[in-house]
Amino acid sequence: MNFSEELDKRTTDVEKVIRRFLIDEDICKNDKQNQIYEAMNYSILAGGKRLRPMLVLETCRLFGGNEKDAFPFMAAIEMIHTYSLVHDDLPAMDNDEYRRGRKTTHAVYGEAMGILTGDALLNFAFETALKGALQAENKENALKALSILANKAGVFGMIGGQVVDIKNDGRAIDLDTLDYINELKTGALIEASMMMGAVLAGADDMETKKIEQAASYIGQAFQIQDDILDVTSTSEVLGKPVLSDERNHKSTYVSLLGIEDASQKVNDLTNKAIEMIKSFQYENEFLFELINSLIYRKK
Ligand code: IPE
Ligand code: IPE
Ligand code: MG
Ligand code: MG
Ligand code: MG
Repeated sequence: MNFSEELDKRTTDVEKVIRRFLIDEDICKNDKQNQIYEAMNYSILAGGKRLRPMLVLETCRLFGGNEKDAFPFMAAIEMIHTYSLVHDDLPAMDNDEYRRGRKTTHAVYGEAMGILTGDALLNFAFETALKGALQAENKENALKALSILANKAGVFGMIGGQVVDIKNDGRAIDLDTLDYINELKTGALIEASMMMGAVLAGADDMETKKIEQAASYIGQAFQIQDDILDVTSTSEVLGKPVLSDERNHKSTYVSLLGIEDASQKVNDLTNKAIEMIKSFQYENEFLFELINSLIYRKK
């Protein structure tokens, strides 16, 4: 099997894991709040790349961990990522109408339900991860993973990055500030994914620190590529609007350095990350290929 077939297959497998943890709309259809279940499933089942849960699993595999313990954390990180997108698209934030090839959650269910759907996914993520931790084979490792998740999703992580991003709309910022935004708004959840996979598999503190650094590089590269695709791709391919950053007067690597230098940066950061992960001398060829493929991703 070549890499892209393997990726498709593993994405389907990850998708199946996530589905297992979602609320069954049919079973709960008599609840008065049933629209929230529908909106949660609408946003999370729209079919993203599932990169973060895949990184949880593949990093857990890299360190030889028990995959079953990773499952609830895979679902949880995708719920948190999806909530961050639902809120990111709101009129008060980036004000985007399309996501993952369909109308954004607020465009379909209204702004108030968009806000509540994000809240619901965030809360349900922790409910899911906690339940998983209580049933995990190694509960101490699972608790560590939970603590990483809480930290990286919050004000010291993703939310913090979104705050600095939004506060700087319409302003010219320097590269240091842009790096700060990228490290947090996108880097933090990628760090959480890989660190959770590592600690669930029993990686020690030094290994986990190294994974955090490598994942930070991957996250920054991922966001720079996202900014590049915002100007070079089409909404059909991306499944979300292009030129959103320009419309929101955002400084990005593309606006500060140009596409060529931005692409070089994606390449450099990715190579640094792969080198770091390879230095463990553990094998997971698919993980290395996956990280490398992000340089050339088209969506
Ligand atoms: C989009 O993330 C938001 C960023 C952090 C750049 P993805 O590109 O992973 O979105 P999905 O999950 O595939 O839709
Ligand atoms: C958002 O970055 C990162 C999040 C934490 C949601 P963007 O605003 O560039 O993400 P897209 O382009 O809308 O997916
Ligand atoms: Mg944004
Ligand atoms: Mg956006
Ligand atoms: Mg973007």
